[in-house]
Amino acid sequence: MRRYRIIASGILLALLALPVLSEEGSGRPKAAAVSPSLKGDPLVGKLKSEDERCQECHGHDGNAQDIEDGVGNIGKYPRLAGQLPSYILKQMRDFRNGVRSNDTMLVMARSVSDKDVADIAAYFSGQKISNEKANLLPQGRRLFVEGDGVRGIPACAGCHGEAGQGIQQGEVIYPRLSGQHQRYLAKQLTEWRLAERKNSLGGIMNEIAKKLTDSDIEQLSSYLSGL
Ligand code: HEC
Ligand code: HEC
Repeated sequence: MRRYRIIASGILLALLALPVLSEEGSGRPKAAAVSPSLKGDPLVGKLKSEDERCQECHGHDGNAQDIEDGVGNIGKYPRLAGQLPSYILKQMRDFRNGVRSNDTMLVMARSVSDKDVADIAAYFSGQKISNEKANLLPQGRRLFVEGDGVRGIPACAGCHGEAGQGIQQGEVIYPRLSGQHQRYLAKQLTEWRLAERKNSLGGIMNEIAKKLTDSDIEQLSSYLSGL
């Protein structure tokens, strides 16, 4: 297990050494340089998350229901409860800039300022996530904790934390995965694999997801939703 951690931190170090190429010279604000420090007020955020409609889809306390929207979109709404506030802010900026594409969230992200998001993120991140039923799938657990050296898959835990709780290291933000809806997690992993989602630093999640089979994704997402 230690070996995989070392591999994961090696990748991390390599990534940290990369200049922030995509942002440089593009005229866009350097999101990574400002985002993590914007501090929000959870009480103000609670009101704003209601006024700005976030609660309608993500739940009053950030524990969104795992529902379909009636037009075939499954596992739509991710939980925001217990998520790192800096990750919420980064995603909102990515949606707004089109770095992460989702029609609904593009509209939502454009309707709020960074200050609003910081407040809303402070509220949701302070809420307790209500995990799904524990799902002790050995293949999912093994990949999460140890990775697979033969197939070149690093341990997820090496970046996302021992308990999948999410970690922020400097300006690099590894989101919380534990307790997230299984279908949402599977959708994201599939989108990373197809390069439909491309907003991870250095494309790291695309590299990792390319190596995952359908069965790996099923096992990992089920395991994590109950963690
Ligand atoms: C009409 C429904 C709807 C509303 C209202 C809405 N969202 Fe979302 N949100 C979504 C959907 C759907 C996704 C998942 C997108 C995907 O699958 O990539 C999402 C994703 C997100 C994510 C990414 C979470 C992750 O784990 O990566 C964040 C952060 C977020 N929303 C914040 C907000 C905030 C803040 C508001 C209020 C200003 C808001 N949302 C309002 C539907 C909504
Ligand atoms: C080298 C570090 C690293 C490793 C190892 C890693 N990840 Fe990630 N992962 C990231 C980063 C960074 C992000 C945030 C991307 C962004 O900013 O949108 C991420 C995001 C994600 C997301 C999106 C979460 C959300 O709320 O939308 C999922 C799902 C995910 N990773 C699953 C995994 C799984 C499963 C594994 C193991 C097979 C894994 N990751 C291994 C760095 C890593």
